[in-house]
Amino acid sequence: MPQACAVDLNDQIPNNVGLADDPKVRRALLHWQPKYLEWWQEMGPTDFAPNDIYLRTAVSVDSGGWANYDYVRMPDYRWGIFLSPQRRESLIRAGDLAGQRAWNAVPGEYRTALRRLIVTQADTEPASVEQQRMLGHTAPSLYDLRNLFQVNVEEGRHLWAMVYLLHKFFGRDGRDEGDMLLERRSGDPDKPRILGTFNQPCDNWLSFFCFTMFVDRDGKYQLAALKESAFEPLARSCEFMLTEEAFHLFVGETGLCRIIRRSAELTKLDPNGDARAQGGIDLPLIQRAINYWFSFCLDLFGGEISSNAAEVFANGLKGRFKEDQRYSDHRALDGVYALTTVDNGRLQTREVPLRNAMNEVLRDEYIRDCTRALNKWNRVLAKTGVDFRLSLPSRRFHRHHGIYAGHSFNPAGELIDPDTWNLMHTHWLPTPQDQAYLHEIMQPVYEPGKFANWISPPSRGLGGQPLEFAYVRM
Ligand SMILES: [Fe+2]
Ligand SMILES: [Fe+2]
Repeated sequence: MPQACAVDLNDQIPNNVGLADDPKVRRALLHWQPKYLEWWQEMGPTDFAPNDIYLRTAVSVDSGGWANYDYVRMPDYRWGIFLSPQRRESLIRAGDLAGQRAWNAVPGEYRTALRRLIVTQADTEPASVEQQRMLGHTAPSLYDLRNLFQVNVEEGRHLWAMVYLLHKFFGRDGRDEGDMLLERRSGDPDKPRILGTFNQPCDNWLSFFCFTMFVDRDGKYQLAALKESAFEPLARSCEFMLTEEAFHLFVGETGLCRIIRRSAELTKLDPNGDARAQGGIDLPLIQRAINYWFSFCLDLFGGEISSNAAEVFANGLKGRFKEDQRYSDHRALDGVYALTTVDNGRLQTREVPLRNAMNEVLRDEYIRDCTRALNKWNRVLAKTGVDFRLSLPSRRFHRHHGIYAGHSFNPAGELIDPDTWNLMHTHWLPTPQDQAYLHEIMQPVYEPGKFANWISPPSRGLGGQPLEFAYVRM
């Protein structure tokens, strides 16, 4: 049973799960380690393998201790297994068994469901590394390049966290899943990653910042729901992953904010109000990128009406966002959720039993969080004096899963006919011309303290260093 062990940094696999006393699991993970490194060498940002990167490495799990900065070459990064310390009272937080003792082993009846939850989460981690692997060649600064690599190595560590659970608690099946996580490839039609969003290309920095803003934020809410799991080792893994995830969200939210600020400046600067004429990214293109990534992320939360979500909640495998702090009724047996559905070609409101709407409840939290960021960016736009404002599209817009997929909606969420969609979608989503333009302007800037023309510098550096610091030694 994993306790809050001391951090063992000298083990071949740094960990605080007492691997030294768990020879069977340690052996299995040491067998997996070279396969992981092989995957990293094939699918990670390998063109930058020889460079020294100023990275943060987890050296302990207590506050502050995990944020240790130093120059590291990425292949030498100390990927480790860290769980948050065991809570004082480990009680089941949600569902039919709320209040009973949490599990430190996998109950047989939930084995398949838990394995699927862990594998689905795990699969997103290497997928994002694969999606982002060429971005280093077009980085707008050394500061941003370093942030990209920080995100990449930490997604690698998240894979380790999930593979540890698979090896430790799921025997042979778990080890097989661990191997398959290294075999699937983002965007490969023969062996794609499990979730559609993680097969989309992310090959320019506007996409990267949208990815870390919107996709990593989906990750935050999925991890937050898993952090409420009755299966303690999963809950504690996710809790520690969330501390790393916060940085990824910072990269996305501030990265987009810096592009937006620069775009507004260039719009003001140009006599015709054309940011592109100044080599920048025009605000309508930023809006199209937001529409694209936000809508793909909404799909990740699953169906609006879901018996599977109800079951997962009932069995305590997942809880709601901040289940402990926000709710007093942890069974959620009585409530209803007012859901907008499409019935006979019209939008209607229908009441759904709350448990069946748990995906929608989590999606609401996510949308609220994204709205907060949008409001912040719009305050930046207001300050610079441009009239343009950004908005989030409706949750019904451009969906590929759930009850809205198969219907056409405009960004305001109104039903439209397919002809209108065909006519208008190039105004709402990035076009091939947009992509070509982004590739054209995204030339690497590797001089310390310099930033590409299409993005503002951040307000301060990282890890106690100034902006002019050589975050990556080229
Ligand atoms: Fe992650
Ligand atoms: Fe992340």
